Amino acid sequence: MGRLERDAADALAAAASSAELAEVETAALGKRSALAAAHRHLAALDPDARRAAGKALHDARTRLEALAAARAEELVAAERALMLGRDRLDLTEVTADEIRSAMTRGRLHLVTQTRRELEDVFVAMGFTVAEGPEAETDWYNFEALNIPPAHPARSMWDTFYLELGQPETVVLRTHTSPVQIHLMEDGPPPVHAVIPGRCYRRETADARHLPVFHQLEGLVVDRGITFGDLAGTIETFTTAYFGPDIHSRLRPGYFPFTEPSAEVEVTCTICRGAGCRTCSSTGWVELAGCGMVDPAVFEAVGIDPEEWSGFAFGFGIDRCAQMRHVIADMRVLTENDVRFLRLF
Ligand code: DAH
Repeated sequence: MGRLERDAADALAAAASSAELAEVETAALGKRSALAAAHRHLAALDPDARRAAGKALHDARTRLEALAAARAEELVAAERALMLGRDRLDLTEVTADEIRSAMTRGRLHLVTQTRRELEDVFVAMGFTVAEGPEAETDWYNFEALNIPPAHPARSMWDTFYLELGQPETVVLRTHTSPVQIHLMEDGPPPVHAVIPGRCYRRETADARHLPVFHQLEGLVVDRGITFGDLAGTIETFTTAYFGPDIHSRLRPGYFPFTEPSAEVEVTCTICRGAGCRTCSSTGWVELAGCGMVDPAVFEAVGIDPEEWSGFAFGFGIDRCAQMRHVIADMRVLTENDVRFLRLF
């Protein structure tokens, strides 16, 4: 192997990339290469020497071309491997949290999540889940619940009326209590049911109130039901849903459809009882009304109050969510700001 061939072979072997190899190949084997120049000098030789030199040059070119092809194959393989390595996604480095935050999947609204949690707590205590209509006649929303027309207690509920039938006879339900009446009409006792649903009141939204809100009604009708059963059920519920750290209490109250009646309150979670704007400086927030079903309600649906007794309650679902998740102003629940919704 002559010097010329050895130099060309070294240059081909040293080429570090396909692009560099192409340049080296042109320089070593192309028209302007030393090899081509040597070829041109053959003409000046006598025939025997020309034949021998010609063969030597031809053999050298053949070997160099084979070398170049082999080096090209090596370089292409190395470059492919490099490219694959660069494109590879190392999933072992990605945490579950990163994947979760990269996904823009939707979720249930906090109020829906809360409704389901409340249902679960009561279902675990043996209640069934029922539903009722959002548009009610005056009789279901008021009269059957022992609230006669023009009764002063009606001012407890600022009502939206629908333009249906006689004026002021069809309402958007102001509470879920009318479903108690439907359930007792639907079949004989016993009844152990909770009823979640949307309610409407003609009032201005504030930190603790929304004109469209949600309640979870409860009704138990059976033989020998006492106020102790009611208090125990409420206590079991508040501990299961809020945990042992939040204090609840029953306060005497008034509702036309229960006697006696009580209000369920929890320590305001915003100020921990110190008093703030959310709890109107009282340190307590009302979550529910409850009581023993009034005999007048049993009579309205033809149930004998001598044989049956019962208790009822109505929790504010939005209030439960508000206290449990420490939300100072309930209005965020309707604003649909994804920065808030994403927190739950
Ligand atoms: N319906 C009442 C309201 O919305 C809450 C309530 C009080 C429901 C006492 C009840 C009950 O079932 O027994 O203000």
